[in-house]
Formats: sequence, C-alpha cells, structure tokens
Amino acid sequence: MRKKIVAGNWKMNKSFQEAEELISVIAEELDEKELDCDVVVCPPAVYLEMISDYAEESGLSVAAQNVSAHDNGAYTGEISAYMLNSMNIEYSIVGHSERRTYFNETNADLAKKVDMLLENNMKPIFCIGELLDQREENVHFDIVKQQMEEGLFHLNEDEFSNVVVAYEPVWAIGTGVVATPEQAQEMHNYIRLLISEKYTNEIADQTTILYGGSCNAQNAATLFANEDVDGGLIGGASLKPDDFVKIVMSF
Ligand code: 13P
Repeated sequence: MRKKIVAGNWKMNKSFQEAEELISVIAEELDEKELDCDVVVCPPAVYLEMISDYAEESGLSVAAQNVSAHDNGAYTGEISAYMLNSMNIEYSIVGHSERRTYFNETNADLAKKVDMLLENNMKPIFCIGELLDQREENVHFDIVKQQMEEGLFHLNEDEFSNVVVAYEPVWAIGTGVVATPEQAQEMHNYIRLLISEKYTNEIADQTTILYGGSCNAQNAATLFANEDVDGGLIGGASLKPDDFVKIVMSF
C-alpha cells in the first residue's frame, strides 16, 4: 500500500510565537487520534528546528518549503539539503508554483534541487500543475507531462521511489476554486500512467500523489476518496488547527 500523506504548507506566515502555538495545538489534537495517514508540517525555514522538536514528540514529519540547487558554499541566503538533513528534516517541497512564478524557477533548476535532496537522503515533494489558461487551451496534460519529464524523469528507479508528487493546479491555489474530484482523479491517474510508462507499474502504484489547491475541511474527504488521490498539500487551511486536523481525519 502506498503512503497517504496530508501536508500543511504554511508558506510565509506566522510569527515564531504564533507558529509555536499552531504546532502545539495540532500536535495535541492529533495525539488523541488514530491516524490513517502520515502528517507533514512545512513551516518557514527559520522555524524548522522548533517545529521538529514538537514533531518528533508527536510522530509528525517535517518538510522545508524550498532548498538550494547548490551544494554548500558561497550562496548567501540559501539553505542546502546537507543542512536540512543534518537537522533530521525528512522532506522538502520543490517547485511550488509560487517559486516557479515569483522566483523564476525552471524545471531544470528544480531537477537540480531534487538531486540535491536525494543525495542528502531527503525526499522531494515535487509540485506540478497547470495555469488556468493552459487548462482552457486544453494543454494541461502536456504541461504536467513536461514538468514530470524535465523535473523528475532523469532519476533512476531507486531514486524516484523517494519522490512524492503534488498536483497543484495553479488556478486552484488560494482562490477558493477547488478542482472537482473528477478533475483531480483524471490528472492523478494520468500522472500515475506517466510514471508507469517511464518506470514500472509497481513504482507507479507505490508513488504518493497529493492534491493541492483550495483543499479544505469541507472538500477534503470527497477529493481523498478518489483512487489516485493519496492525500493533500494544504495551504490556507493548514493555518487553522481545527480545519487541518479535520483534513487529516478525512481518509
Ligand atoms: P491553498 O490550500 O491555500 O489553496 O494553497 C495550496 C498550496 O499552495 C499548498 O502548497
């Protein structure tokens, strides 16, 4: 059985004290529950150590939101996979649409970040997804295929088996317009097909594919009920502990 995951991407939100309050409430609420999925928290980098301490106690995993494409050295302001791994951070998001859009990250840059993570025994949560006009022009499958090919398909089978894919249609991120369960299932099924064609059916079957984009406490269960939707990458709703816990309990 492949892993089910609910991950909360906090983006650039919360003071240190607010972040500590948020993680402590989430950890406390989840502590009392039997979970059918893994829970990953993705705080801003400056809070990783504090969040890790809470996470370790309560069995949650931690992800960075970004990682450098470079090894260690003279890259002021960057954070390397080597550093993250030395702090026992298990995952990093790679290629979130906000980074692709605002920081001009290309598939080629992202392929390097993926390599850095894997070389340092970390797992990428690799984000893909089309813009609204690309869906309207009916090229959304081509876009997703290109992102998979250029960002991930240089990996060998062993390497790829450490990757989590997150399908986040850009038109759904932070807009309140969620993909329909049918749209999500259709694209997740297509992504799994691409993986089986590139690698094997078995690897495709084992790959966790998350949905992200206006996923909330009300719609999570109908999204997660789909065969190929293995959980969610949650933005806004992950900042509200009760909503996030409800989403985690949606399987
Ligand atoms: P929202 O859940 O706020 O739409 O954000 C999704 C997202 O970008 C998660 O990475």
